[in-house]
Amino acid sequence: MAKASSGNLAGQSTAAVRTPGYAEIESLKLSALFNLHLSLFSGVFRPIAALDQTHAEFADADQLRYALPGLPPMVMLKTARAVKAVFTAPAYSFGTASEVGASLLGTETFFAIDGPKHHQHRRLILPHFHGKHLHDYGAVIAAITREAMAEWTPGRPFPIHAGCQEITLRSMLRILLGYSAQDRFAQLESSFRAILNTPLLAACIFFKPLQVDAGPWSPWGKLLRLKHQVSQLLLAEIEDRRQRDQSQGDVLGLLLAATDEQGQRLTAEELRDELMALMFAANEATAAALAWSLYWVHRDAGIRDRLLGELAALGGSEDPMEIAKLPYLSAVCNETLRISPVTLFAIPRATRETFPLAGYDIEPGVLLAPCIYLVHRDPAVYSDPQVYRPERFLDRQYSAYEFLPFGGTNRRCVGAALALFEMKVVLATVLRDLEISLMGGERTQPQRHGMTFIPSGGLPVIARMRTSG
Ligand code: HEM
Repeated sequence: MAKASSGNLAGQSTAAVRTPGYAEIESLKLSALFNLHLSLFSGVFRPIAALDQTHAEFADADQLRYALPGLPPMVMLKTARAVKAVFTAPAYSFGTASEVGASLLGTETFFAIDGPKHHQHRRLILPHFHGKHLHDYGAVIAAITREAMAEWTPGRPFPIHAGCQEITLRSMLRILLGYSAQDRFAQLESSFRAILNTPLLAACIFFKPLQVDAGPWSPWGKLLRLKHQVSQLLLAEIEDRRQRDQSQGDVLGLLLAATDEQGQRLTAEELRDELMALMFAANEATAAALAWSLYWVHRDAGIRDRLLGELAALGGSEDPMEIAKLPYLSAVCNETLRISPVTLFAIPRATRETFPLAGYDIEPGVLLAPCIYLVHRDPAVYSDPQVYRPERFLDRQYSAYEFLPFGGTNRRCVGAALALFEMKVVLATVLRDLEISLMGGERTQPQRHGMTFIPSGGLPVIARMRTSG
């Protein structure tokens, strides 16, 4: 039976957070555990150790309730059963949980808006990241990957996550802005890369008190200045495109032509916020997922060779749609996203009214946080969950509540199809052209990088041109 536990991160009396309808199972232990590991600070920098320990200690709980000082109470959903209850509730039963990111990305982005406006934005954007559009992007992504690989010095160690970031940044700029922004590309790329690599980025986004502009050398001051640069470049590009031909088959062209139900076009500021959010969401996550895929594939020669065999069977075809259909390559990408989810949680959902969850009544104002990391490690669903085994995705299909690297329902990642497609095209291109050796051997640790987790040190590798097929 599902159980809920209440805990108190501040180490106060557990009675202070007792909620009618919740069992206080092991609340003292939970309190101690959280005091140790999941204070707000270590929740940002070392959450994986805390989640592993939580899982070991509360293996049979579907949901865990806790309270962080200064934040609304939160229920962590850690099994497919709990996630299903939330994902099958009617769309927009829940509010957006956070203004997290709004201070940096703007208040009109996907993450900050809700209800009909959010629905309308999704309907506008989604088609551009699916179907026939993917075919067009495939050749662009493969060409950009080769361009980036040509800059990697053969035989010299380098962190391949930085290379993956280069590929995802350039690809996304091309997909969003097309070819017309050519002369602004280099500036946009370098300002965006500086934002994504700002030390303490996550801490600045999560901790409001750090959002103080104490000059260009302070983390927040630096971020604001970089954001201003990107904003100016994007506004200039939007203005130019308004004057010229708008529909060039890229996302900006589509957004420029779009109107809402009242026939109104998006303002320049709304367009800029949309592009900023897409750039931010797309690059961080996809670059991290690529770095993890390269790690897992090169950690085991058997997996790498099976993948190379599957690619060789294509007989040299570079058709991205054929590559995207390869079953073992697809299984490798899925297993990577299962075992190393780049975001540990989906976007928390805020209850608007009392919500029944696995036998408990959750009161309004509570955040329901689907924990992707723990659901993907549930041994009731995945045998030997700590083992990387792509075959599990060939042997069976997992439901949307068991396998959720892209979250779900009305907030599911709008770039999910593009991200998977991009992972496959980049992996196929890199594997076909390069022999890669991991510098750290088989071992790596997840390390925070902005809003995501990447292999430690950015995954140092040595790459050499492949001499035979
Ligand atoms: C491997 C790469 C990626 C992963 C693992 C990933 C994961 C996620 C997750 C977990 C969410 C939250 C969903 C929820 O709470 O239900 C999300 C939301 C989002 N993602 Fe991604 N993402 C990836 C790539 C991308 C790309 C390439 C784009 C853009 C083209 C993108 C754009 C977005 C947007 C706009 C949202 C907010 C959706 C909304 O609020 O309606 N993501 N993503």
